[in-house]
Amino acid sequence: MSEDAPDTRMTYGNYLQLDKLLSLQSGPKGHTPAPSNHEMHFIVVHQAFELWFKQINRELEEALSLLNVEEVDEKNIPVIVSHLERCSEIFRLLASQWKVMETLAPQDFLAFRDRLGTSSGFESWQMRTLEMLLGLESEQRIGGMDPMEHNRKLHSEGKLSDSVMTEMNRIDSLPSLNEVLLRWLARTPVNGVAGDENVMRDFVEGHLKVMQEHGESVIAHMIKIGHGSEETIRPRIESGINSARDFLLPDDKVVPARAGLLFIESYRELPLLSWPRRLIDTVVDLEESMLLFRSHHARMVERMIGRRMGTGGSSGVDYLDMTLKYRIFTDLWAVRTMLVKREALADPANSEFYGYASDN
Ligand code: HEM
Repeated sequence: MSEDAPDTRMTYGNYLQLDKLLSLQSGPKGHTPAPSNHEMHFIVVHQAFELWFKQINRELEEALSLLNVEEVDEKNIPVIVSHLERCSEIFRLLASQWKVMETLAPQDFLAFRDRLGTSSGFESWQMRTLEMLLGLESEQRIGGMDPMEHNRKLHSEGKLSDSVMTEMNRIDSLPSLNEVLLRWLARTPVNGVAGDENVMRDFVEGHLKVMQEHGESVIAHMIKIGHGSEETIRPRIESGINSARDFLLPDDKVVPARAGLLFIESYRELPLLSWPRRLIDTVVDLEESMLLFRSHHARMVERMIGRRMGTGGSSGVDYLDMTLKYRIFTDLWAVRTMLVKREALADPANSEFYGYASDN
């Protein structure tokens, strides 16, 4: 081998491009003096989060592409679940990483905080793309904030690269996980029949009737044990049933995705429905883990800067606490309020369609 022939042995440093990665912790160009230990810690924690955001974005896109088809291959449901489970685990890991950030004392943070200028996690475009991939709409955000508009402005001012803007536009053009999930749920065969509104309506009406009957027994029981009177309890129970009706049959119209969702959640013993139910549960788990991540960030920030304004110009902790109200998969959360115990429900029709387990 000649002296300058490339050495083909792969090394750890080569594989991970460690030279490059480990040369990126000294802050932006011209950042003098060099970051203190505390500031380097601050940079490392942020960069670690961004790496994980990158992975979450990738997992979400993989899950999305498998679910965004007319007919989802059943074999792909466990694969989708595993992509989403990885996202939840990453969020759980990130939620505990705020603890490392908290080893920075408020005074040590203040010592370099001015060097951040107006930069803020608020401008993390990877956080925005993952929210977009999940399906958080601008109308749902605090102040109707549109991340695309914000980043287009940054791009026009030369503060965001062309490649990032192109990537954001690409993701903006994709349907969200929430959208494709609802489309998939809408195709759920209810009582063994797919796409038949009358079958769905019968199922939903039957469910509401069971809720009504159960409500009557709750009212009678509460009065009997002295936990209120007919006048105080009945309106509360009835308002719950009316909300369920509004959800399942708004303007007296069947919403196939909601009927499918209720069916899957009600008959979890049916073998064919077990993976779909697992997928729904995984999505709820993902949203919950993301909310806990947001919540832990807010508590860390409160501990670090109290109630002062954020470097991004928001009200700080108050703003972060408001983001805890975000819910993307609203239907998946809402259906939980109207489930009834399995033994109160009639057995599903055509249960053999779902591979009903026999008694022997
Ligand atoms: C000393 C540590 C930190 C403090 C005091 C802090 C403070 C804040 C504040 C006040 C906001 C609200 C926006 C603003 O006005 O700036 C914010 C937003 C945000 N921060 Fe932090 N942060 C810290 C560390 C981090 C780290 C390590 C990350 C990881 C990437 C991060 C990610 C975010 C994100 C994604 C937002 C946007 C939240 C949203 O709009 O939903 N922060 N942060």
